[in-house]
Amino acid sequence: MTQSLGVAVIGAGMAGKAHAAAYRAASTIYKPTLPEIHLISIADINVELGTEAAARYGFQRHDVEWRAIVDDPAVDVVSVVVANFLHREIVEALLAAGKHVLCEKPLSDTLDDARAMAEAAHSAEEKEILARIGYSYLRAPGITFLGSLIDDGRLGEMLHFSGRYWTDYGCHPDAPMSWRYQGPAGSGALGDVGSHLSYIAEYLCGEVQEISGGRLSTAINERPQPLGNVVGHSRGNVSNEFSPVENDDYASFNAKFARCVGTLEVSRVAAGHPNDLYLEVFGSKGAARWSQTNPSQVEVLLHDEQADVAGYRVVPLGPAHPRYAGGWAMDAPGVGIGQNDLFVHQARAFLEEIAGIPEAESLPRCRTFVDGVHNMEFLAAVADSAAAGGSAIPISSEIN
Ligand SMILES: NC(=O)c1ccc[n+]([C@@H]2O[C@H](COP(=O)([O-])OP(=O)(O)OC[C@H]3O[C@@H](n4cnc5c(N)ncnc54)[C@H](O)[C@@H]3O)[C@@H](O)[C@H]2O)c1
Repeated sequence: MTQSLGVAVIGAGMAGKAHAAAYRAASTIYKPTLPEIHLISIADINVELGTEAAARYGFQRHDVEWRAIVDDPAVDVVSVVVANFLHREIVEALLAAGKHVLCEKPLSDTLDDARAMAEAAHSAEEKEILARIGYSYLRAPGITFLGSLIDDGRLGEMLHFSGRYWTDYGCHPDAPMSWRYQGPAGSGALGDVGSHLSYIAEYLCGEVQEISGGRLSTAINERPQPLGNVVGHSRGNVSNEFSPVENDDYASFNAKFARCVGTLEVSRVAAGHPNDLYLEVFGSKGAARWSQTNPSQVEVLLHDEQADVAGYRVVPLGPAHPRYAGGWAMDAPGVGIGQNDLFVHQARAFLEEIAGIPEAESLPRCRTFVDGVHNMEFLAAVADSAAAGGSAIPISSEIN
């Protein structure tokens, strides 16, 4: 088994810091089976941000140029956490240099680039170099529990699904122009948070087969140019010059999955909902729902309850639920699980696979770039449906 792994992160913005913190903490959850982890570099063109992130998370250095990481033989594992349109060039260079790559979602901002990245990943895997996409929510205990309620039949036959991922980072007209507002139709809210909602929906409802009723909408058509760096969803000083918003602030659609149909909705202009991922599944024997707003609990309704106490009940997540006991530092019910914890699980899952720890003894594996392409094909079908006035768009099932 691998004795030690050198780790680097490219991008020290909103999600980059979450990756950096996660590699630092990955060895502190579950059994001490990971190889020694050396935190080597964080690359970011923003010197202040990169320097601070490296110091804060215990990385040996900050690089301005991501190519310094490509060229460093001490680095084995790299997270790519920059704007989507930058993913391809960086990922391809890293894979060619023999680095294992964890790329943020969505794989890219265009399907062509994503497909090229999947080809590069395929060539790399022949040399036992891994290219993965994290899909952090697939290790969320609440979502995993919804999945097991469906799989073990307690909810009966699935009738329908409702999912939304509302955010509000763009609801203010003075939120500055950034990479998030640029790119083709479907690369806005749909690519940003719809990329999460779509793989979660498939996890619960089975593979997507058809999209219909697609609608994309841009609510705020221009954004002021920033005076300085924009990090994540930050607002700050802006100029009087405006640039056009190129992609969607809002998207909604209907989907037919292998197990049931559902409606899905995403937004970046839903004022008052900073990070509102909400999922509800309806079955012939009951229903269940989970929300990122209260991620440490699942609500469950079962029809075999006595009529006078029937209704949703709150189930606090704890050691009775999958992968909870023995994982967290404090693994008692009700201590709380946040989105940052999901990055720790994601980093550990990736390191476990690289280290050769068997899948049965690991957290659920990160997904392949082929899955990442499929995810983008799903989102492209929504954009196609919207462009065709909501027409039905079939999606072929050719994963792996
Ligand atoms: N999994 C999740 O929950 C999640 C959450 C947020 C973002 N993301 C994904 O993470 C990625 C980054 O998003 P973000 O919100 O962190 O973006 P961000 O804008 O906050 O950060 C991007 C960083 O990249 C840096 N950068 C730009 N060009 C660079 C270059 N050439 N070399 C090195 N650094 C460079 C910027 O200075 C900035 O600090 C995107 O793919 C996004 O979709 C995932």
